[in-house]
Amino acid sequence: MGRYLVTGGAGYVGSHTVLALLDRGDEVVVLDDLSKGHRGAVPTGAKLVAGRCDDPKAVEAAFALGPFDAVLHFAALSLVGESMREPMRYIGENLANVTAVAGAAAKAGCRKFVLSSTAALFGFPERIPIDEDQRLEPASAYGESKLLCERALAWAERVHGMRFAALRYFNAAGADPDGRAGEDHDPETHLVPLAIGAALGTRAPLTVFGTDYDTPDGTCIRDYVHVADLADAHLRVLPLLDHRSVRYNLGNGTGYSVRQVLETVAAIGGRPVPHGLGPRREGDPAALVASSARLRADTGWSPRFPALEDIVRTAWAWHSAHPKGYADRPAA
Ligand code: UFG
Repeated sequence: MGRYLVTGGAGYVGSHTVLALLDRGDEVVVLDDLSKGHRGAVPTGAKLVAGRCDDPKAVEAAFALGPFDAVLHFAALSLVGESMREPMRYIGENLANVTAVAGAAAKAGCRKFVLSSTAALFGFPERIPIDEDQRLEPASAYGESKLLCERALAWAERVHGMRFAALRYFNAAGADPDGRAGEDHDPETHLVPLAIGAALGTRAPLTVFGTDYDTPDGTCIRDYVHVADLADAHLRVLPLLDHRSVRYNLGNGTGYSVRQVLETVAAIGGRPVPHGLGPRREGDPAALVASSARLRADTGWSPRFPALEDIVRTAWAWHSAHPKGYADRPAA
């Protein structure tokens, strides 16, 4: 099969995509500085180059293990709240990573690139579900950084013939259905792992951010999409890059409120989720739900785990088996 360079392959979505590539028989080289990712998240079978994307020596060492059929670029800072405290760092680092890696790819003759992009491109959307034709108006420096990454790649296409897929993820959640990988962020800010941790007693009770939104139960609505389905989408867009660049919104197409997520975690775990009610978190839109109709039509992608129960069940299995995340697992 093929050989792929996966930057950020020791991180959450990256490591699940590495598994999907290895499962179908591809060779994988991971470039990751392990600042957020985990050595134990890099599966046996993938080669790890430990280094930063903006370090020319590390990038050179990674490309020396090519040639690659494509680069899948996950390495990025990705916290919306943090990006509003350090906007220049977010924009600077995320853009520097993508330009360094895409530049090196072009030089090495690799002209296919898949970018982890985000629903944060749309800021406070005009319509739900959100399709690709909606206005791009990020409401955070994180979203802006990814928009700039997409725009940089358009120049790589124009000048170097680089074809790229920008996949705008909605809320990635869940864990590898075979229990080989899961979610382990530090700090953890995402709803599903926080709710599971609170129920398991490995984390403090969580706070529901806002109960006065214009939604049926007053809490925010998000489109939770299983991380294995996200990984699958990366594989499915690769053949399109023989012909053209593409941009897709990537979600389940169903929205769940924060309260519904807590209820589902309680039902799957068989115990309550300790929580309190608090004020809104700044910058949170009331509802974000994807239309992935274009991706489905062009690639045949459809989620294997569309039900929130299945997403939570796989996440619950991972967190109960690994209460300390990858700290519990020896490096592969
Ligand atoms: N939430 C709580 N309490 C918490 C944490 C989250 O109530 O302790 C709520 C949030 O307000 C939000 C929902 O749970 O309504 C989901 O929050 P997450 O932090 O899990 O995810 P976000 O929707 O904020 O962020 C996700 C991705 C980002 C992406 C963003 C697009 O993680 O990368 O969607 O807006 F940029």
